[in-house]
Amino acid sequence: MTRAVSPRSVRLRRSVLSVPAINRRALEKIASLDCDAVICDLEDSVAPEKKAEARENLRSFFAAQPPPGRAGKEWIIRINSLSSGFGAHDLELVLALEPDAVLLPKIDEPQDVTVVSDRLAEADAREDLRIWAMIETPRSILNAAAIAEAGRTPGSRLDCFVVGLNDLRKETGVLPQPGRAYLVPWLMQVVLAVSAYGLDAVDSVFNDFKDFQALDAECAEGHAMGFAGKMLIHPSQIDIANRHFGPNEAALAEAKAIIAAFADPAASGLNVVNLGGRMVERLHLVQAERLVHKARLISDRHRPSTGSG
Ligand code: COA
Ligand code: MG
Repeated sequence: MTRAVSPRSVRLRRSVLSVPAINRRALEKIASLDCDAVICDLEDSVAPEKKAEARENLRSFFAAQPPPGRAGKEWIIRINSLSSGFGAHDLELVLALEPDAVLLPKIDEPQDVTVVSDRLAEADAREDLRIWAMIETPRSILNAAAIAEAGRTPGSRLDCFVVGLNDLRKETGVLPQPGRAYLVPWLMQVVLAVSAYGLDAVDSVFNDFKDFQALDAECAEGHAMGFAGKMLIHPSQIDIANRHFGPNEAALAEAKAIIAAFADPAASGLNVVNLGGRMVERLHLVQAERLVHKARLISDRHRPSTGSG
């Protein structure tokens, strides 16, 4: 008997596009873009003297695009850290706009997350307003498991980590290199931490937005490492990320074959079956169901298109 995958447990986070909240024109473009999630950034892409203007931008953008217009994508607001002098105002804005999640920058330890979940609880924030955390400081890598574990605390809203290599490289002196050899151990720590505690991890941005070949290689690498998707900085990066982090034809065909094999009455009561000369276990069935569910979410998003495309 196949077990239905709960829709809440599978989210599309293949392409997570960052947009500076100060950039109205870019914000307005998003409706026409095929990214899974949008990070409206109030932090590093907005100059200190423009923070208030960026908040007002977001306020009017969200007012002009009520939830139906934003449907089909996850909306995240990245705030400044609470210690920066901007973060408290940013958090007030988050409470007013009710995006899907708030993204916390420069997290060092679990308390940096719990302090925000406590504030959201005090303010009676909607229960499904989630917390995402940037993993971009050396301490956040060292504490990745403890931070992810904090997501288990009742009332914690922690849902997703986003790796920030620009900050991490700045702090550590590791140079950008194809293959990211010196960063891989840290990246895998992050993937291990989220896997242990049921969160997602999104891979870091790739800065050179005209180098599609290198982006392609880095997306392939991130997917092979176990990331759910990639944080992006430019619309031209979306298709490549969607392709790598989405189910491809071969993987989908195999997933369907696994589901069919276990649905066969002959497999009832079996935990392992022979699929064309390969052992398949029930644990593969869970993976297969998740993949098929993701594929369905993607095709559902494209089906009810209002236009011709
Ligand atoms: N989201 C939505 N639209 C974007 C976009 C983004 N992140 N980046 C660029 N665009 C739009 C531009 O507005 C432009 O639209 P137009 O043709 O209608 O004017 C179009 O895409 C082409 O942009 P392009 O000229 O190639 O780039 P640019 O010089 O305008 O912008 C960056 C380049 C890097 C400044 C810009 O992509 C950007 O700000 N990215 C996000 C940066 C960020 O969020 N950093 C923080 C996280 S690391
Ligand atoms: Mg950063």
